[in-house]
Amino acid sequence: MCGIVGYIGLKKASPILIDGLLKLEYRGYDSAGIATIEKNGIKTMKDKGRVRNLYDLDGINDLEGTIGIAHTRWATHGKPSKENSHPHMDGTKTFAVVHNGIIENYQELRESLEEKGYKFLSATDTEVIPNLIYDYYKNEEKNETGLLKAVSSTIKDLKGSYAISIICKDLPDIMIVARKDSPLVVGKGINEYYVSSDIPAMLSYTKQFYLLNDGEIAKLSRNNVSFYNINLEDVSKDLKDIDWDVSSCEKDGYEDYMLKEIFEQPTAIRETIGSRLKNNEKVNFDEINFSKEYLKSLNHIYLVACGTAMHAGLAVKPILEKLCHTNVTVDIASEFRYRDPLLDEHTLCIYISQSGETADTIAALKLAKSKNAKTIAISNVIGSSITREADYTIYTHAGPEIAVASTKAYTCQIILLSLLSIYFAEILEIEDTKFLNSLKEEILLLPKKALNILNDTSKIKNFAHKIYKEHDMFFIGRGSDYSVSMEASLKLKEISYIHSEAYAAGELKHGPIALIENGITVIGILTDPNLVEKTVSNLQEVITRGAKVLVITNQEIESKNYEEIINIPSANPLISPVLSIIPLQLFSYYISKEKGLDVDKPRNLAKSVTVE
Ligand code: M6R
Repeated sequence: MCGIVGYIGLKKASPILIDGLLKLEYRGYDSAGIATIEKNGIKTMKDKGRVRNLYDLDGINDLEGTIGIAHTRWATHGKPSKENSHPHMDGTKTFAVVHNGIIENYQELRESLEEKGYKFLSATDTEVIPNLIYDYYKNEEKNETGLLKAVSSTIKDLKGSYAISIICKDLPDIMIVARKDSPLVVGKGINEYYVSSDIPAMLSYTKQFYLLNDGEIAKLSRNNVSFYNINLEDVSKDLKDIDWDVSSCEKDGYEDYMLKEIFEQPTAIRETIGSRLKNNEKVNFDEINFSKEYLKSLNHIYLVACGTAMHAGLAVKPILEKLCHTNVTVDIASEFRYRDPLLDEHTLCIYISQSGETADTIAALKLAKSKNAKTIAISNVIGSSITREADYTIYTHAGPEIAVASTKAYTCQIILLSLLSIYFAEILEIEDTKFLNSLKEEILLLPKKALNILNDTSKIKNFAHKIYKEHDMFFIGRGSDYSVSMEASLKLKEISYIHSEAYAAGELKHGPIALIENGITVIGILTDPNLVEKTVSNLQEVITRGAKVLVITNQEIESKNYEEIINIPSANPLISPVLSIIPLQLFSYYISKEKGLDVDKPRNLAKSVTVE
């Protein structure tokens, strides 16, 4: 969703700001803009469309200011247009503001400002912020303290979520930033500071970051940063060293981030296993310390997430349930948070979020905490909002995921949660040790097996080439293959814009088979030896009705009129989704390429969904 960049230092700000926006493009946006403080006041340049268009704007190269803010907007209030693009200014052009999030009470604030004579130029919720700041500031001393007081009063009036960055024409040597329920980090350089919605956008400038918490304000000058709470009391904050390298945020010779991230899976899986699992040892999670008594006292475990992360939850439900002998429910965060689920101290809630910034997932976590359930966040982004809310955090080590379509995060989430299931089982001592050991051995082999799949992608590429013009497809499977079907179908929709449905193979006869007609593509996933024959029968039923069938399997199956069979390495069905999804990620990728679409930035989508 929207992205914020800010710079204060000794260099010309505009190139750094535009470069930062380019790196935030993956979050999804429809307009872009920047504002810098020039000799004669604040200059803003903005328009709908791509960040690159900013280079063509008249006068962009004349900007000399060494302090500035920038923004990519993903429209919520008001259509994509120049007027609605950020930065927004107050009527006197004293302040420029960029904002991520949603101001829920903006209508009320706007009306009260309009009554005082303030005029608005846009349809956005954001425009109330610079005007409100001005309204408070006009009665304050025109210095840093006056500005801080005006910002503090303003954000006390705001309901909703925000990350904001503010510059003031009267004070060209400071920038103020603040956040609530929307991400914002401050990077430290030498005689300079950077502001950004996420760390990767600034990694080529610095690897040292301060992570702002909800309700905090920062005042940046060229050689100092101070942090405050909403009442302007000092807050102390540690500088964090981030060990992601710049190349991990670049394409590294791949045509697209998505392809690079698919191919990074063997490494990402290995890194996520890391020191948590070693040969002949018990699984170890330093991040949590659960007793046998606590785990025994649980009567329900929830896995809560959105999109692909929720599909990772579906993929691990069987292993968690089997190893912990407890009921496990997988819930969509936006449903969970509004349906009054049964929660108490005997419930464990695990929240899965690559970005750690998904608004619904965070809200669902807060709900569980308010009902005394213990919460664990599974995230890929160090210091992300969810990690600061949860009782415990466990990180996947997938490395930065830039493509909107999630791939390596999904496989790493499954690995991590499978390890967590084994960890619980080893504490509970209710599962056969031999079985647990065999699962652990299999997990250690997964990076190699993933690599094996990626070594030959020709069959899946050819199949994608054959069918990319189609409009509808079906994915079917049973057990964990059904959960993979759902993820494969989501990937296809997201980046190829082809309609598809995922069905439990056994459900076909209960309705959807009516849609099977001559020439339609059905993709069958068959990795569970106990269920393979049943799914084969379902595939025969659709073939009889004219379907073209692609099979993904690790079983020996007879080639019964299938269009193509992709063989993948064998694995226990409890963890097979980590492997069976890989050819299907590639399938969506190649279809999207055949159609000439923007794989990394599919239409209407955002990488982190920070509004509900
Ligand atoms: O950052 P999160 O894991 O919380 O994101 C959840 C979903 O928005 C995300 O998985 C989305 O479905 C992806 N675009 C899937 O490719």
